[in-house]
Amino acid sequence: MSSVETLKREAGIAACRFVRDGMKLGLGTGSTVRYTILEIGRMMAEDGLDIIGVPTSESTRELAESLNIPLMKISEVDSLDLTIDGADEFDREFSLIKGGGGALTREKIVAKLSKSMIVVADESKKVEVLGEFKLPIEVNPMHSDRVIQEISDFCPGQVSVRASNGNDDDNFEPYMTDNDGYIIDCKFGPSIRNPLELEKIISEIKGVVEVGLFVGICDAVIMASSSGTEIMVNPEGRLS
Ligand code: A5P
Repeated sequence: MSSVETLKREAGIAACRFVRDGMKLGLGTGSTVRYTILEIGRMMAEDGLDIIGVPTSESTRELAESLNIPLMKISEVDSLDLTIDGADEFDREFSLIKGGGGALTREKIVAKLSKSMIVVADESKKVEVLGEFKLPIEVNPMHSDRVIQEISDFCPGQVSVRASNGNDDDNFEPYMTDNDGYIIDCKFGPSIRNPLELEKIISEIKGVVEVGLFVGICDAVIMASSSGTEIMVNPEGRLS
């Protein structure tokens, strides 16, 4: 296992200490929270843990089902106790960029329905200013050209529809989300100093389904680094 993979595993498993019997738990998407879900499956099978999961993507649903974790759909729940999910970047205000795996819309719905949200990450995800990672935005395919045009007016870098088949420009196939949307990736560079304002501006563009900026949602980050695993609690959050 590579060192980054080891850190992802450590962060993912460390989050399980916040999981309690009887919880309705939002299950995030991605390679870090995958370790959380594997550990929850193990705890259910071996330690008698009893939870219900609400998956944020079809891939997470398949993983949870393979581990016999009982599931409910987002549409079946009014509120959840906790969501555990990964992030592509987080800053010192606990604002996040998410959506590298394309699941940002359901991830945001589930996180907002939850009483608290914990992010699991390796140290590479911690940034001073958000934006080095291309900001993912889910859009209605019918409006993608116009959304790209409008965002290009104020985004300094490339704004493009995510491909499902890498960089093969001659055979471009758009990546499709679980909701049949496209993802537009926007290269702002490390310049997103007011993520709340940017989220609002982009959300108001017709055709935008969801923006991969999560502001005021994350209550703690469990970050694994070469010097150990740290639990950073948001002083403004619901776990402090
Ligand atoms: C999925 O859409 C994303 O929001 C992920 O949570 C995020 O990309 C982090 O994924 P990794 O843990 O694989 O880096």
